Amino acid sequence: MRPAALVIPLLLLLLAIGVSTGVQGIDRLRVAYRWKQLDFDWPDSKDDDVRRAFPSYDAADNLPLGLEVSGDRLFVTVPRWRRGVAASLNYIRLNDTRESPPLIPYPSWEAHEYRDDGRSPPEIVSPFRIRADRCDRLWVLDTGLSDILGSPEQQSAPSLLVYDLRRDRLLRRYPIPEEQRTPDSLFANLVVEDHREDCADAHAYLADLGGPGLVVYSWRRDSSWLIKHHYFHPDPMAGEFNVGGVVFHWSDGILGMALQPHEDGYSTLYFHPLTSTAEFSVGTRLLRDPKRADTSEGFHEFRLLGSRGPNGQSSVSFLDPASGVLVYALTNLNAIACWRAGSRYTLQRQGRVYMDNVTMVFPNDIKIDRRGTIYVLSDRLPAFMYNRLDPEDYNYRILTGNLAEAVNGTVCEPPRTSSKDNNDALDTRINRLPSSRRNSATAAITSCGRSTILLMTAAVALAALTQVDW
Ligand SMILES: *[C@@H]1O[C@H](CO)[C@@H](O)[C@H](O)[C@H]1NC(C)=O
Ligand SMILES: *[C@@H]1O[C@H](CO)[C@@H](O)[C@H](O)[C@H]1NC(C)=O
Ligand SMILES: *[C@@H]1O[C@H](CO)[C@@H](O)[C@H](O)[C@H]1NC(C)=O
Repeated sequence: MRPAALVIPLLLLLLAIGVSTGVQGIDRLRVAYRWKQLDFDWPDSKDDDVRRAFPSYDAADNLPLGLEVSGDRLFVTVPRWRRGVAASLNYIRLNDTRESPPLIPYPSWEAHEYRDDGRSPPEIVSPFRIRADRCDRLWVLDTGLSDILGSPEQQSAPSLLVYDLRRDRLLRRYPIPEEQRTPDSLFANLVVEDHREDCADAHAYLADLGGPGLVVYSWRRDSSWLIKHHYFHPDPMAGEFNVGGVVFHWSDGILGMALQPHEDGYSTLYFHPLTSTAEFSVGTRLLRDPKRADTSEGFHEFRLLGSRGPNGQSSVSFLDPASGVLVYALTNLNAIACWRAGSRYTLQRQGRVYMDNVTMVFPNDIKIDRRGTIYVLSDRLPAFMYNRLDPEDYNYRILTGNLAEAVNGTVCEPPRTSSKDNNDALDTRINRLPSSRRNSATAAITSCGRSTILLMTAAVALAALTQVDW
């Protein structure tokens, strides 16, 4: 090969690398809070009854999982992994400027106390995820399960607890009826449909990853019904996880859920099992009509949207109603990704918002508030379960960012003429690659944004000119 044939593509490649390193990486969020271990806001006094009411407290057993923001408070759940958990639902004030603020139990310390020598479970046992609605209610999905990683005990029925956030009072407790669950049930996530004018016209969708199933709860009727579907089941081919070098196998059904509200008061529910790389959707008009959901016609209204590709297992997701952008966690990749609802669910239409193998190890909850602020909690759960966490290292983090800035320049950015043209050009370029290379090419492109496109283009040029098989 003549040297000149190599020089031009090499220059192109170097130029692209220069551009690529000059541009910011995938760090469109920043760490707002971080903890080595969690601590609680214990009362100060020396001989204090509160501390005595939690005799088995052990900081190492407390790992945060779910988060939610309402008003000036940021709520954090701490499921009862082991016996040493203090309070399983807490908050911090958003104006707290400390790096590792102590958690304040919600609604009170008393709501988390065991009585009668531990025989009577507390008001709140062990919630995974929570949701604040437009009407100042906090919906708490309590698994009722304690000592989850030790000797699991179902201390109370899995229940939906709803609090009034103005008065911090329990409004309603709804135990999930026995015929709507199984011995394997684990109610780990919920979404709340609250966009109708009337606050009584609200529905909660409760995901049971163990059933698997979806329980639909109507606030007005104060009753619920169970929806079953094959798409709630784990995919046996997606059961191996690798998070920061910890390899494990999970077989979990429906977990990630996000609602896109429509003007008619119904929504599209986007969902996926944890053990899966696929994304599905269904209209809530169907889910709210259990008789029709049970028919063959209803069965076919569930849709397969597409795949997140190899290593595309995802825990949680959240859809920002204002922009229609779905933000979701990529469990195996220490990453947060995005997709714009309404576009095709292909790899090249999925962008990356954040990726970091230290600060984003096991993203476990995502919320976006009405001002478009993203909140993400990462907690290294696999290391906690199968290995151990280093108490001298920062293990738990809450990251924040602005949604518009986070998706700026990615394929998820709400449409502008110029960026649409870019995307179409990109699609064409990718589709010309042989299919075996397409996946890695799209993964690379979505992961690093436009600078990588330049790099890829240069690499393709190099490969074509030198006829090297890469
Ligand atoms: C944060 O806000 C709360 C009430 O909203 C107030 O009591 C507290 O003093 C504030 N803290 C700081 C550090 O500003
Ligand atoms: C994180 O990524 C860097 C390179 O980006 C690598 O050097 C480091 O070993 C990785 N750390 C872990 C814990 O995977
Ligand atoms: C998006 O990025 C462009 C170019 O860097 C910048 O001019 C624009 O203000 C950004 N928009 C937002 C919403 O951050």
